[in-house]
Amino acid sequence: MNDQFTPKLISTGRARNGDKQNSAFFETYLQRVLEERDRCGLTEMIGRIEAMMITVEPGNSIAYIGELALMTPYHYLVTLDSPRHLTHILRIDMNSPDILLREVKDPNHYDIFRSLNDPHPAGSQRPHSRYLGEILRVTDREQVLEMQREREFRFFSPDTLDGLDLPTNVSISRPSPYTQNVVGYIQRDLDTVRVYHPLGNCNIVAHAQDTYEKAKELQMKLQIDDLIKPIDHLATRVHSQNREVAMLEYLALSSYHYWGSYDIPDQNSSTNVCKSVRPLPEAVSPAKVFTANNLPYCVNHLDKLPSPNETFVRNYGPRLHHIALSVKDGERGGKENIDFVVDAIASQGQGFLLEVVGSRDEGLKQIFSAASPISALIIEYVQRFGDFQGFFTKDNVARLTAAAGVEDSLARI
Ligand SMILES: [Fe+2]
Repeated sequence: MNDQFTPKLISTGRARNGDKQNSAFFETYLQRVLEERDRCGLTEMIGRIEAMMITVEPGNSIAYIGELALMTPYHYLVTLDSPRHLTHILRIDMNSPDILLREVKDPNHYDIFRSLNDPHPAGSQRPHSRYLGEILRVTDREQVLEMQREREFRFFSPDTLDGLDLPTNVSISRPSPYTQNVVGYIQRDLDTVRVYHPLGNCNIVAHAQDTYEKAKELQMKLQIDDLIKPIDHLATRVHSQNREVAMLEYLALSSYHYWGSYDIPDQNSSTNVCKSVRPLPEAVSPAKVFTANNLPYCVNHLDKLPSPNETFVRNYGPRLHHIALSVKDGERGGKENIDFVVDAIASQGQGFLLEVVGSRDEGLKQIFSAASPISALIIEYVQRFGDFQGFFTKDNVARLTAAAGVEDSLARI
């Protein structure tokens, strides 16, 4: 699973999936962005996703540790205590990305990330809570930063990162105008552990440890601890007009390639997938999915089509919509594993937006949880059968998208 010093990574000329028609602009600039990225060496220098960053409201992070410890394979490791935030490090192992779970200490805290939530009616209800973005591994942080700055990408200064209580050994971009997510770069040798500094005093918070242990005990008692695998993909929703530029921007900042796009006409939307150019499983470097309406809201009164993506981004702002976790292929207790996992978690009061969709014959089954009351993020479970390599079926995605569109928190806006 080495993602360093792989010789001659070529980002272009890869098999294309899907049926969504892209613009001539996108096709031309996709080729140019990837060719330039390969030629200047950035594809070689930028590697896997090392971490994801999430911020939640004051007092909410420990409950979220409990939620994630039950619903995912993540373990609570340690808490970094800095002036304005607590940052809990959640980890599976050194092969899969960490989660940096940040809790704002002061409800009146104001920073750039809050300013992304405030204009949006649903986002502003949890003003500090949002997924910030991913941290990518690089072989030479200073050089990558210099090259990306020359390419007109903008980054926070070390002083600003310090003021935001973000790790200063990570270079972090300013939020994207298209996704409002950031991209960070961290330099790490594969045989060393990940460290984030300086984020203040490092300690194990007794209440966090206790909540984590209870959730893991429950996960084991429910016999689902060995069935839920690492993250498969991260799905970001963007405005209709930003579908193509959101992908071009991420491809310029990462070493991912364009895997393909599926049109979901029933939901007036498309699902667009980018994956690592390295032969790494998603468990090591999750796929990046961008979803967008086919038509913007401002013409929707003409055809009155479903508009779930555009409604979401108008309510919350562009942002991460769901984190998808793989479920181990197989059966337990007379059910396919995904059904066993969902029934077990539902028995503890966790809601799901619909029943499990898909089938063994179609290659995979999927489901969306209800949005977390803490982070607003949805957890997706996906079980692929046998050697099915596809990402989804169009029917599944249409049903999942429709279910998310009627989710309670949207209906209330
Ligand atoms: Fe998904």
